[in-house]
Amino acid sequence: MKSIPTFIFDLDGVITNTEKYHFQSWREICKLLKFNLTSELNEELKGISRDKCLKKILDWAKLEISVNKFNELLDKKNQIYLDKISKINSSNVISGVYEFITSAKKQKHLIALYSSSRNANFILDKLNLHSFFDAIVDGNSVKASKPDPEGFELAAKLTESDPKNCVVFEDSEAGIIAGNKINMLTIGIGSSKKLSIANKVFKEFNEIKFQDFQKC
Ligand code: G6P
Ligand code: MG
Repeated sequence: MKSIPTFIFDLDGVITNTEKYHFQSWREICKLLKFNLTSELNEELKGISRDKCLKKILDWAKLEISVNKFNELLDKKNQIYLDKISKINSSNVISGVYEFITSAKKQKHLIALYSSSRNANFILDKLNLHSFFDAIVDGNSVKASKPDPEGFELAAKLTESDPKNCVVFEDSEAGIIAGNKINMLTIGIGSSKKLSIANKVFKEFNEIKFQDFQKC
């Protein structure tokens, strides 16, 4: 008998439009470092943990800073970000996502979240989406963030799903790499050029049909 695939969603840039606030917040930090963070470089920050992002930025800027300064900048970035997202609500859910998740629940798909963000639970509350998820894995639950598959493995374990029967929805290359590593079906949400390593790419959830995922 075919089993119903488990859907594992990324958060920033897939469920909600908060990715732009991460970018704006990092740009403010980069200004302090006198480094110009372009949107091309920002693609490489998508999906990875806060401290990995800062390490990448310091590498690009060829800067070395003390541990204290490093932690101070991480806190500052998060304060700027939290301030920007303080007023988000269900209107910040990306078009088609709510309908997709509610139909998936009706059709008995298990729903999990894996986000590298440590703010994921806070954001899900603000979006009023918490109760839809059968499992939530965030930046606090894993040692290694994407492109390591640890978080996807944990989401599969928590939903008692075979990783091969999981479908990953991701807007970041790091997330697609992570899902591919453990043979999950990877669905890129966004540009097919940027996410060419995904098994399939859709511009938005409105274009997706569940039959596409009955692969087991
Ligand atoms: C997500 C975003 C990244 C962000 C990371 C950490 O993966 O795509 O852009 O850097 O979460 O987020 P946080 O809210 O913990 O700083
Ligand atoms: Mg994302």
